[in-house]
Amino acid sequence: MELTQPQLQTYEREGLLFIPGLFDDAEIALLQQATVDIAAVDHPSRVLERDGTTVRALHGCHLTHSVMARLTRLPRLLRPAEQIIGGPAYVYQFKINFKAAFGGDVWKWHQDYIFWAKGDGMVAPRCVNLMVYLDEVTEFNGPLMCIPRSHHHGMIDVEAARGKGGWQDNVSADLKYSLDRETIARLVGEGGIVAPKGPRGSVLIFHPNLAHGSTPNLSPWDRTMMIVTYNSVSNVPVPPGEPRPEFLVSRDTRPLAMAEGALTG
Ligand code: SIN
Ligand code: MN
Repeated sequence: MELTQPQLQTYEREGLLFIPGLFDDAEIALLQQATVDIAAVDHPSRVLERDGTTVRALHGCHLTHSVMARLTRLPRLLRPAEQIIGGPAYVYQFKINFKAAFGGDVWKWHQDYIFWAKGDGMVAPRCVNLMVYLDEVTEFNGPLMCIPRSHHHGMIDVEAARGKGGWQDNVSADLKYSLDRETIARLVGEGGIVAPKGPRGSVLIFHPNLAHGSTPNLSPWDRTMMIVTYNSVSNVPVPPGEPRPEFLVSRDTRPLAMAEGALTG
């Protein structure tokens, strides 16, 4: 799938682009089953909420499940990523955020790129997030809230919160690099807030420097989303020290080849 010039311009201007219903019900059912399979495996890449039982996120899913690996090579995701970053891409990160009914916790306001710059040594924000909705997203189940045009400010340097010191500080509800109230108020004064809502199968494309976050899910409806982050093959990070685990920073940086055919292969 090729993004049109107007779509690319919207992305550049707003920092996000929403495409409702890009995957059909059969494809979503396949992805949901793969998600259930991965979530059943007790592994450090499976992160729990503060209650110690609810699954918060799964990481590195393209490394362990063939359906997820294939998803990352579908033209519907890979081609827009290549257009946006301006050349060949590889999967930098693949996560599934659950935001479970009644128990899914907050994601504080943040930009993604600061984690990758400071944590992984990524030199430039030549990467992009493609988020696939596995559930319908409404105003009730903790949609992603985005501040349009905030990416034009670049990476806003914030002090790291004092956490436990491991990679877990980057994925828990006590986020390592979150934006303060004054900054959020200023950014929202400029760009407002949008929360793209839509049926399962929708895709939200957003910039690594777009300010975003989400509230806890008080509703009885899950809000599962997959997020594939593609990076340019000419922007491979050079870690400042011990690299984070492979399920957070892919080691295979070869350009991805486009898959032909359906998700099932
Ligand atoms: C969320 O799942 O609501 C947050 C996702 C993100 O920060 O990338
Ligand atoms: Mn984020």
